Amino acid sequence: MNSYDIAVMGGDGTGPEVTAENIKVVEAAGAKFGFKLNFTEYDFGGDRYLKTNEVLPDSAADELRKFPAIMLGAIGHPDVAPGILEKGILLRLRFELEQYINLRPVKLYDDRFCPLKDKTAEDVDFVVVRENNEGLYTGSGGFVFKGTPNEIAVQESINTRRGVERCLRYAFEYTQKRNKDNTLTLCGKTNVLTYAFDLWERAFHEVGEADYPGIKRDYAHVDAATMWFVKNPEWFDVIVTDNMFGDIITDLGAMVQGGMGIAAGGNINPEGTSMFEPIGGSAPKYTGQGVINPLAAICSGQMMLEHLGETEAAAAIEAAVIKVVREKIDTLAAGRMGHSTAEVGDLVAAELA
Ligand code: IPM
Ligand code: MN
Repeated sequence: MNSYDIAVMGGDGTGPEVTAENIKVVEAAGAKFGFKLNFTEYDFGGDRYLKTNEVLPDSAADELRKFPAIMLGAIGHPDVAPGILEKGILLRLRFELEQYINLRPVKLYDDRFCPLKDKTAEDVDFVVVRENNEGLYTGSGGFVFKGTPNEIAVQESINTRRGVERCLRYAFEYTQKRNKDNTLTLCGKTNVLTYAFDLWERAFHEVGEADYPGIKRDYAHVDAATMWFVKNPEWFDVIVTDNMFGDIITDLGAMVQGGMGIAAGGNINPEGTSMFEPIGGSAPKYTGQGVINPLAAICSGQMMLEHLGETEAAAAIEAAVIKVVREKIDTLAAGRMGHSTAEVGDLVAAELA
């Protein structure tokens, strides 16, 4: 029997609640498809930081490296200044574990939940491959004359040929494997970011022409891409983009697929430890009320199983989620699902069994 050691980081706010439902569902999938999951919990997050004054132990990344996958709930605490936990836990782990891909599928499971007029589940089904280790996120930059009228703040976008190329190669491979429209769209800003996206564009065409002749290459400026997400989401198959643009367009993507209650993502190191998470935040105002939607977390569990090679189980979770979303849920919004958080987890687990 296949068995997987999984690190669990429930994190802050509603993170632990949705993670419990995620665990419930992947365990149900394991029981049905014959694999075992061994969970090890870590308490990294705001509460631990407030108690110990340590954001993340230096040993954390090395310890987590032993696991093929991490299930993450959410990071972000109302009593901790913004940025400390996000940079100190989430971004630090993405970097130290070299999770250089942030994979974010945008798939509408039921027409009722799309805010776009006349768009259906057929129209909204694409995937964003976001570069996850470089760009504006590295923390490169600084202040000069801070606090004076002459203050200068510089925030640099780092784009290495190696980092860009490995992201592009992953995106080409993914597009090929997905085999839907066999089209990869580079989303950039070549008309203004004439250094960064010059590198991206050259690498995109070089890699594509040399190694992926069967994949059609397309390009969209990021501003136009946001317009098309709303006007013609059916135009997209797979999109590859840098860290910052990927962050921004995937929140829009999440809305198009029905909201933060359903949007999941994977921080992927194809050769190492990957970390799966609902892409919404910790939603502190809903903590402990049992009203938050666990489906995004459950969909991140589906992505984790897919990544681990349990493809049948992953497909079964997706089918169960679709059934629950279409037939049993009032809305995807917190407090308005017609069910509690745990009940939604139960519904998906029951559908699986
Ligand atoms: C995300 C989040 C993070 C990001 C924040 C919390 C640092 O918005 O996962 O998209 O910007 O990457
Ligand atoms: Mn974001």
